[in-house]
Amino acid sequence: MKSVLFSRFFILLPWILIVIIMLDVDTRRPAPPLTPRPYFSPYPVGRGGVRLPLRRGSSGRVAEKRNESRPQPQPQPLLPTIYAITPTYSRPVQKAELTRLANTFRQVAQLHWILVEDAAARSELVSRFLARAGLPNTHLHVPTPRRYKRPGLPRATEQRNAGLAWLRQRHQHQRAQPGVLFFADDDNTYSLELFQEMRTTRKVSVWPVGLVGGRRYERPLVENGKVVGWYTGWRADRPFAIDMAGFAVSLQVILSNPKAVFKRRGSQPGMQESDFLKQITTVEELEPKANNCTKVLVWHTRTEKVNLANEPKYHLDTVKIEV
Ligand code: UGA
Ligand code: MN
Repeated sequence: MKSVLFSRFFILLPWILIVIIMLDVDTRRPAPPLTPRPYFSPYPVGRGGVRLPLRRGSSGRVAEKRNESRPQPQPQPLLPTIYAITPTYSRPVQKAELTRLANTFRQVAQLHWILVEDAAARSELVSRFLARAGLPNTHLHVPTPRRYKRPGLPRATEQRNAGLAWLRQRHQHQRAQPGVLFFADDDNTYSLELFQEMRTTRKVSVWPVGLVGGRRYERPLVENGKVVGWYTGWRADRPFAIDMAGFAVSLQVILSNPKAVFKRRGSQPGMQESDFLKQITTVEELEPKANNCTKVLVWHTRTEKVNLANEPKYHLDTVKIEV
């Protein structure tokens, strides 16, 4: 009898041990995050909300350290959302421009892309593109009236206003969340550092823009932390001699100035920025960024018109390919 009991005990013993080990392993698993991330991102958030690529493979020092100490749920500081309003229109280089932009924006934490097509309807190309872009976005459209589609007239007035209207509508019933708006034309080049700089905008911030106004750069002139003038080669008489890529506005300022919009009437090319900024701020109030406006972090690159001289009129390709 005793030997039967003994042999049963030894048969059961390994199973009991396995169950104990399994229970122990399970309790060591880190707790799931308190709030789910809004969308997948392989990047942790770094200073100023630029996503830092995770280290992989042999450089696994950081990962090892993480395994040693159990990760604690960290309270995330409320990062102001950056709203980028991009007017865009159909042309051969459109998808290439948007791809370049998305590749930059994807590396910026808490960025919401407001893409506004200059068109009577949302195009399939842009809809498909945004669906795969991996970015929080809003897809709007408004056509520029034909009479305004002429060389020498300001561009993208209606599209930027549509973006502003969406932003105001979205926040009309809630207390303004921290946010920063900037106008990101689809053909410019943006450094990641620019987003770190603009994220701390209190009202309206400004910085230099490269390759604009017939010079290598334009910039606000700063003395004792205040803007006192403009380094520019073109129409220095502008109240705010700055390109659209050279400033950001806090969401609070956009909401507390509900009538501030881009105007067609009386507006000349190059004056849109001044006409808009005049409605919401003064030169004295501007917050200089980029080391007192001494660093170029955005470039007014303009894409060369593409040469399609050899596109066939007849004998087209056998497949239809989106470019
Ligand atoms: C300069 C400024 O950098 C622009 O911010 C300003 O809107 C423009 O002048 C102006 O004259 O109004 P520039 O490079 O000459 O820029 O202008 P584009 O890049 O051709 O256009 C600015 C934005 O409007 C781009 O995002 C572009 O895709 C869009 N756009 C342009 C339209 O949505 N529709 C158009 O017919 C043309
Ligand atoms: Mn441009």
